[in-house]
Amino acid sequence: MSKDIVQIFDTTLRDGEQVPGCKLDKEQKLVIARRLDDLGVDIIEAGFPISSPGDFNAVFEIAKIVKNATVCGLTRAVKKDIEVAAEALKPAKTPRIHTGIGTSDSHIRYKFNSNKEAIIERAVSAVSYAKTFVEDVEFYAEDAGRTDNEFLARVCEAVIKAGATVLNIPDTTGYCLPEEYGAKIKYLKENVTGIHKAVLSCHCHNDLGLATANSIAGVINGARQIECTINGIGERAGNTSLEEVVMILRQHPYLGIDTNINSKLLYDTSQMVSDKMGMLVQPNKAIVGANAFAHSSGIHQDGVIKNRETYEIMDPAEVGVNESSIVLTARSGRAALAYRAKKVGYELTKVQLDIVYQEFLKYADQQKEIVDGDIHEIIESSNIKIES
Ligand code: KIV
Ligand code: ZN
Repeated sequence: MSKDIVQIFDTTLRDGEQVPGCKLDKEQKLVIARRLDDLGVDIIEAGFPISSPGDFNAVFEIAKIVKNATVCGLTRAVKKDIEVAAEALKPAKTPRIHTGIGTSDSHIRYKFNSNKEAIIERAVSAVSYAKTFVEDVEFYAEDAGRTDNEFLARVCEAVIKAGATVLNIPDTTGYCLPEEYGAKIKYLKENVTGIHKAVLSCHCHNDLGLATANSIAGVINGARQIECTINGIGERAGNTSLEEVVMILRQHPYLGIDTNINSKLLYDTSQMVSDKMGMLVQPNKAIVGANAFAHSSGIHQDGVIKNRETYEIMDPAEVGVNESSIVLTARSGRAALAYRAKKVGYELTKVQLDIVYQEFLKYADQQKEIVDGDIHEIIESSNIKIES
């Protein structure tokens, strides 16, 4: 069965870099951009060129070196922003301008002190102006998650007429439930005249821990682009995590939807971004966290040692992790101890294992984890004769 491809739009260098303390210098951005290109990302949002001369330069240099991906720059619905973004994107083989405006009642009232008709006018003129510089123009309806669907559909229709190629439907505040976000995408698919001319894009924030679920709901309902970041970094609680959406689609092939990502580079890319941004990956982070393929309770360890599939839904090698780990703690059983002892050079008989296990429990009750050095010490102090 041929699969539908969802475009992966990576915004690590724009929405991700907005995280306090995560600022990158130009060289770091270039290294990350090169890696994203190798990873198979379809669009790299390289920055917000009007925001500072440093960001302008970074976008300009990234546009020069990216070989495969489209390079994108963010703007507000402001002429000067669009001109500066167009200038920064000049060296790109395939440039995209990402322009937009807030569409929810609260944005219209408090941010713009405006009204719905004037917002549509500004949206249309921003897209039309961006089209004078580049062919590929993405429009974002900021706070679309809290925008009423009827008005959102009117905005979408107007910007498609003005030439928008992609419609970004951001859940800027991470408010929506998956059903609600999915229904919003479905509503737009069914009610916007000309929708076949544009790609619908999910851009979800994680304030309620639902960014990934919302993006997948969007895709199931017809969106064909996901905006995401490595490790899910981003404003406040972050953005949709790239590695999660990629592996969700790959682990559920019956959906008939995949991405162009080389998943074997996911773990390394996650480590690289974490290192450059100085932002640790939480150990229990799905796919790339230190514990994502670590088993520590006796029941699970026994199963995984017999057959990995008992407690793992994906092969760690698929995401670039060498192998699953069997962590020894006071909750571990004999199977795990025998397995780890063998790895450090001891082939224990059943009787020996019983003796060593009692000694192991005394150690394990005092420590968070038993490491290889401890295993030697435990076996030595067990007073058993090991054949070498
Ligand atoms: O979250 C958001 O609405 C954004 C837009 C600027 C695309 O990041
Ligand atoms: Zn965002």
